[in-house]
Amino acid sequence: MSSGKVKQVEQSVLETFKAEIPSRYFSDKTEKEYEVYKANAAYLYRDLLKFPPQMFNGRALIDFGAGTGENTVYLASWGATCTLVEMNDSAQAISKDVFRKYTANFDEHRFFLSSIFDYQSADRYDIVHCRGVLSHTADKEGAFSKIASFLKPGGYLIFGDPNKAGGFQNMLQRYVIYKFAKTWDKMVDVSELLFKDDIDRSQKFVNRTRRAIIFDRWVVQSQNDPSVAEVLRWFDNNELVLYSSTPGFLLPVMGDSMHHMPKFEPQSFKDIGVLSEAVWMMQNASDSEEVPKILRPLTAFAETQFRLAQYVSNCNVESDIQTGALKQKIDDYVDAWKHLDLTEHLVTRMTALMAEAKALLDRVESGNLDEVRTYIAGTTHLFRGAVGNRHMDYVCYKRS
Ligand SMILES: C[S@@+](CC[C@H](N)C(=O)[O-])C[C@H]1O[C@@H](n2cnc3c(N)ncnc32)[C@H](O)[C@@H]1O
Repeated sequence: MSSGKVKQVEQSVLETFKAEIPSRYFSDKTEKEYEVYKANAAYLYRDLLKFPPQMFNGRALIDFGAGTGENTVYLASWGATCTLVEMNDSAQAISKDVFRKYTANFDEHRFFLSSIFDYQSADRYDIVHCRGVLSHTADKEGAFSKIASFLKPGGYLIFGDPNKAGGFQNMLQRYVIYKFAKTWDKMVDVSELLFKDDIDRSQKFVNRTRRAIIFDRWVVQSQNDPSVAEVLRWFDNNELVLYSSTPGFLLPVMGDSMHHMPKFEPQSFKDIGVLSEAVWMMQNASDSEEVPKILRPLTAFAETQFRLAQYVSNCNVESDIQTGALKQKIDDYVDAWKHLDLTEHLVTRMTALMAEAKALLDRVESGNLDEVRTYIAGTTHLFRGAVGNRHMDYVCYKRS
């Protein structure tokens, strides 16, 4: 990637995010909203990423693309000494106010106005943090290697960006918007016209301004999201080991004991996340609604597996195991395997989603915005609910 192109994209992203800062979540609201936000952050790090707040205590942390610092300050409140690198001076000014307000040791934290690509320092950190940034650069792989170079041996890198497949519907939205809008104001109008429900829903969960949401999702011109496989390759290239992620994507098919050598590293199979990515691509309803439907075939399967294992369970000299009965249970079990289809619900949903995507393309081709609006208003799968599950966070560590 030429440095000219990198700088050109950086400038365009900076202009967009100076016009509408994308990372104002609570700083323009009450302290109570900070507390709610922070409690949810604790849930993310402790419950989802298995990286509890205590892990930040006494640690030197650097956050790249820190924005307004609203996703950094709670890490400071958990005991991290933070260095914030951000290229937007308006966002950085807010981050200083946020740290003044919500930390008791403002002077111990440092703020650098710089692009990731220009940032130079001999310091190395226990934790490198970078969320929602690299997809906005023209060289996300180069940017990843750059931020990873600031890790101490044994240090952790916490990295988050949207996922390429999870962002598929978002990309379709962008495609439609750009067909009908070339200027920022027009993009805002078309977004409101076509995707009002989506913006309403985003506001319900994290109450940013409508323009900030629109600029962050659809106006910013670099939204080049990586797949799980790409991220795992970056880990390999930088000698990093996958520690956790949310959402998870590891298929539970590993069975080695802790003593087994050589160890299997899930990241060595780069396509390990592809089924999860398909689920994120079509995500519209909540997990509580969808997961039982996807996993329903497991119930009948579980019964036959239990009956077989139970029949020989605690086998000892007094057991009365009948060969015929055992063979019958084995046959039943093999039969259950033949009927086990975990993709049934997913295939139905994905087929319907893709049919709607194709029908949308026909409407867009017609060039009639009103027709497109009417079509989108009537879809069952496309652009409904979460409109795909975009954001992913990963934790990895550098070998000591
Ligand atoms: C979506 S915001 C995320 C901010 C923050 N990390 C968060 O989690 O709220 C993206 C931020 O990345 C910054 N950014 C984008 N490209 C950058 C680069 N090349 N170097 C430094 N910061 C960058 C933008 O200025 C913006 O503040």
